[in-house]
Amino acid sequence: MKEKDTGPEANQEDLWRDAARHHWLQDHYGADQAVDDLSRIMVKGDGIHLFDVQGKRYVDAIAGLFLMNIGHGQEEVADAVSRQLKKLAYVNSGAYSTLPATELSRKLAEITPGDLSRIFFCGGGSEAVEIALKMARQYHHLRGRPNKSKIIARRGQYHGSTYAAMSLTGPARFRGIFEPHDPQARHVERPYCYRCPWELEYDGGACDLQCVKDLERLIKFEGAETIAAFIATPVSAGNQVPPPEYWSRVRDILQENEILFIDDEVLCGFGRLGTWFGIEHFDIEPDIVTMAKALTGGYIPGGAVAASEEIAEAFADDTFHHGVTYAGHTATMVSALKSIEIMERESIVQNAAEMGGYLHRRAMEVLYEKHPTVGYIGSLGLLMGIEMVQDRETKKQWAKGRDHPYAQALTAKLRDRGLAIRAGNLIVLSPPLTIDRAAIDEIIDILDESITEMEEKPKWRTR
Ligand SMILES: Cc1ncc(COP(=O)(O)O)c(C=O)c1O
Repeated sequence: MKEKDTGPEANQEDLWRDAARHHWLQDHYGADQAVDDLSRIMVKGDGIHLFDVQGKRYVDAIAGLFLMNIGHGQEEVADAVSRQLKKLAYVNSGAYSTLPATELSRKLAEITPGDLSRIFFCGGGSEAVEIALKMARQYHHLRGRPNKSKIIARRGQYHGSTYAAMSLTGPARFRGIFEPHDPQARHVERPYCYRCPWELEYDGGACDLQCVKDLERLIKFEGAETIAAFIATPVSAGNQVPPPEYWSRVRDILQENEILFIDDEVLCGFGRLGTWFGIEHFDIEPDIVTMAKALTGGYIPGGAVAASEEIAEAFADDTFHHGVTYAGHTATMVSALKSIEIMERESIVQNAAEMGGYLHRRAMEVLYEKHPTVGYIGSLGLLMGIEMVQDRETKKQWAKGRDHPYAQALTAKLRDRGLAIRAGNLIVLSPPLTIDRAAIDEIIDILDESITEMEEKPKWRTR
C-alpha cells in the first residue's frame, strides 16, 4: 500500500479523485461523487467543529450522524480506550464478562427507564434492532405463545439497513428494490399532525388520534395472537413529536394485547431529547430498548439492547439464540463508560434541554417568521426538523430525495458557509449536546442567509 500524505502539502486533487474512486460513500449519489470537492475530506474534529483537508472549519450541526453528543476531540475517551486495549482487548462474551462490560451493563440498567435490567451488547443500531426483534419472538416462544411473530412499525420511520430492520423501515428508498422483505413486518401510520394522512386537525384530541386507531385496527385485522412487538422511536425524523396522549394510549393497547413495546432509542438516547432516553418525556416504560450511536459518544462503534426483568426471567432456563463476535468488545465498553461519565460530570443532558429550548425559540423567531418556504418546525431537546415547502398553503415539497437540485443547492450553500448538515425537504439539526448559545446563533444565521438566497435567487432551478 502506498503511503499518502494527507497534510496541507498533499496533492489535494489526487486525494479527492482517490476518495471519489475508491471510497464508496454510503447513502450518496454516484454522479455527485465526480465533483471535485475537497470539502468532503475531513481531517480533524474539535468540540462542535469539523475541519476539512484545506483547513476550512464547519459547525457539525448533525453531530456526525446523531452520535457525537459529547463533541469531537475528547481525549479522555481516546486515552481510556487506549489504556484498556493495552490491558485486555477482547474475550468471547459467550463465555466471559469483563470488568468494563460488568460496569457498563450495571450503569445502563441504572440510567435506562423502567425496570430494564439485562443488557445484550452488539456492534451498532441496525444490529440492535435485529436483536430486539429476535428477543421479542423468542420471549413469546418461551412464554408458550409461538405464533406471536409479527412486528408492527410506523410508516416513515427509519430502523436500520439490515434485512429485518430495513423491512420495518418506512421510507421506500431504503427498501423499495429489496423485495421480498421480512414477511412478518407490518406498518401503521405515524403520529405526524403536520401531514396527517386523514387530513384532520389534532385540536386538543378532536381527531380522536386516528394514528392510534390505525394501530388498533391493524391488531384486530391481523389477530393479537400473531403479533410479537411494536417498534417505534419516541420522536421521529427530528420534528414528529406525537400528541400528548399518543404514547399512553399506544401503551394501553399494547398491554391489552400482550404485544411488547420495543423503544428504538438508537437516535434519541443519551441526551438527544434533553433526557437520558427520549421515552422519558412520555412517561411510559418500554419492554425492550435499543441503543447505539451516542452510547459510546461516537468514538467506537457499539450498540446494546436492554430488556425488562420480565423478559430476562423468561430466558432464565434457556439461551437467547443470537451471537455476534464483537458483542461486549472492551473498547466499546470503555468508550461508553467514559462518555457517560463525561455527560454526568458536565451536566450535558441538562445543557441539551436548555439549549434545545433556545434553538427552538431562535428557529421560530428567525426562520419561521421570515421565510415562507419554511413550512413547519418541530423539535424536542436538541433534535429539530425543519420542513421546507414550496408554499405553506399547499405544503407542497420541492422534490423527493437528497439528489434533487434543491437539496443539493441548499446543502452546498450551507456547506460553503461552514455548516456540516443534512438538508433537503427536511433540514435536520442535531448538534453536539455541548453546544452553546453563540454556536446556535451561528447555525441560525447560516440557515437564514442560505434560505434567503434560495428564495431570492433560485438559480438551483436550472441546475
Ligand atoms: C432510530 C434508528 N434505529 C436504528 C438505526 C440504525 O443504526 P445503525 O446505523 O447504527 O445501524 C438508526 C440509524 O440512524 C436509527 O436512527
